[in-house]
Amino acid sequence: MIKIDYNKCIGCMKCVSVCPFQVLDSKDGKPAMQDERRCIKCLHCAAACPQKAIDLGELEGVLPGELPAVPEDLPKLIEGFLMTRRSYRLFKPEPVPRDTLRSALKVSAWAPSAKNQHPTKWIVIDDENKIRIIMDHILDFVKETGVSPEIAELYNRGQNVVMGNAKTLILAYARTDAINPPVDTALALHQAELLLQAQGIGTCWAGYLMRMCNQVPALKEIFKLPEGCQFYAAMMAGYPDNEQYLHIPNRHKQTDIQWL
Ligand SMILES: Cc1cc2nc3c(=O)[nH]c(=O)nc-3n(C[C@H](O)[C@H](O)[C@H](O)COP(=O)(O)O)c2cc1C
Repeated sequence: MIKIDYNKCIGCMKCVSVCPFQVLDSKDGKPAMQDERRCIKCLHCAAACPQKAIDLGELEGVLPGELPAVPEDLPKLIEGFLMTRRSYRLFKPEPVPRDTLRSALKVSAWAPSAKNQHPTKWIVIDDENKIRIIMDHILDFVKETGVSPEIAELYNRGQNVVMGNAKTLILAYARTDAINPPVDTALALHQAELLLQAQGIGTCWAGYLMRMCNQVPALKEIFKLPEGCQFYAAMMAGYPDNEQYLHIPNRHKQTDIQWL
């Protein structure tokens, strides 16, 4: 698995010290494999190697290019950006360009993930007809079963709590036997959401939609959800229309910390 180029290695042992599972150990002044089965392919070893001497065979150790420079005011920028993130439910008619979505979902792979499993897979729906069909199935289901009657009630009054008027929907599913699929999926999608919002794209988590995707039999068929998987998150996305947030209100729940 881990390949160490001993011609480049200078025996600094940085790789050994950052490995979270002691996969590498020091032997005769050089790093050596101790227990390959423990490797979670996080590539911290490669990231810490000053000689770029490590890769994982199928995974290049270090991507071309240096780490981006971090501006001094980055913490303030991030704080300001995070405090202006909001949910958007009203969107312009055009869907989000697929390339924009593809790169945001790609960056989601840099989110933390239990044992580096990254179990989340994505389904993106940006076809208006398909979105309408999905909504019709949901409305049929809630009428037939009486589950979440407010979906139909509000829909009839002109408000769609399931998907707003989104022209793009992102669904996230994962194997149920992964170590922590709900948390991994939430982190991955939130990472993508932040990048999308930074580009002026509005997003809103769609809990109703996620639940319906798992409950409505017709939807499971449409999505061809693989055996052993379930949906763990869903999101509306689009260019905001008639929704502009000009102020930062206080959050109704204040931070609750117990310092010990
Ligand atoms: C897990 C989750 C599920 C959500 N489901 C829905 C939903 O089904 N429909 C909806 O309109 N908003 C949904 N939201 C958005 C919340 O209502 C929203 O985040 C909250 O009101 C705070 O507003 P803000 O995101 O603008 O700060 C959901 C948010 C989360 C985190």
